[in-house]
Amino acid sequence: MGKVIGVISIKGGVGKTTLVSNLGASLANDFNKKVLLIDANFNAPNLGAHLGVIGAKNNLHTVLLEKSNIREAIYEHAYGFHIMPASVDALKVDYLKLKDLVKILRDKYDVILLDSSPALNDEMLAVIISSDELLVVSTPDHPTLLCTMNAVRLAKKKGTNINGIILNKVLGKKYELSKGEIESIADAVVIGNLPFDIRIMKGLAEYKPMVLFKPTCSLSKGFRKLAGNLIDEEYEDKGLINNLRDFIVNDVERSLRLIGLGD
Ligand SMILES: Nc1ncnc2c1ncn2[C@@H]1O[C@H](COP(=O)(O)OP(=O)(O)OP(=O)(O)O)[C@@H](O)[C@H]1O
Ligand SMILES: [Mg+2]
Repeated sequence: MGKVIGVISIKGGVGKTTLVSNLGASLANDFNKKVLLIDANFNAPNLGAHLGVIGAKNNLHTVLLEKSNIREAIYEHAYGFHIMPASVDALKVDYLKLKDLVKILRDKYDVILLDSSPALNDEMLAVIISSDELLVVSTPDHPTLLCTMNAVRLAKKKGTNINGIILNKVLGKKYELSKGEIESIADAVVIGNLPFDIRIMKGLAEYKPMVLFKPTCSLSKGFRKLAGNLIDEEYEDKGLINNLRDFIVNDVERSLRLIGLGD
């Protein structure tokens, strides 16, 4: 029986879709898991656009409308996972039927990841009630923390287990909220701390999750560590020498960027 993990936030742009695509790529490639990504951001879906799956005729909406069968709407991605994209035409569907769909699919996969809408409505509720556990994505600032607090509250009210908060786009600046502050205000543990890395935009332009685009950077390591945590497995590190080499390469890249020569 697969594990269904919903990725939520009540704020747009914090990194939900990025997290779904990177966890999917890591679980499939680093941990050899059978993974399905579903774009349940019903009205503004863009998981497909992160991964180069664009304009799919059969998708989550057509399945829920019984216009295509489930198998037709699942695409085997070259990155090793399966994906069910959604229609960009904002077709009207019963969002809450997602739960029945997930029930049918869960024994075919090790992990199903659900991307979600940032709007506090039935779209997000559908993801909450369809999931075994939730990852709440936040950034370390006051406005987002307030939204995170509400997302945690809602998930608890609905009785879905919160695996933890993922702090994303962390700059390591003094003015950012600390892990402790976030945990005490949002009343959930922080289980991931992912740095801001502008190079993710270049990967996005090539439809490539960071774990495949820059596999050795800190952000990718963060995604991989988190992927392992979700399935209670530890990612086997490549050892001191290789890590040292990566560190030096990353450091050289960082220095080149600082003097305007890197990408
Ligand atoms: N750690 C990071 N460092 C730098 N940029 C990031 C990071 N994570 C995500 N981004 C960028 O932030 C933007 C928003 O990310 P994403 O689309 O994943 O957010 P979202 O929460 O899914 O948004 P929405 O609620 O609108 O669906 C994207 O351009 C993405 O590449
Ligand atoms: Mg998104």
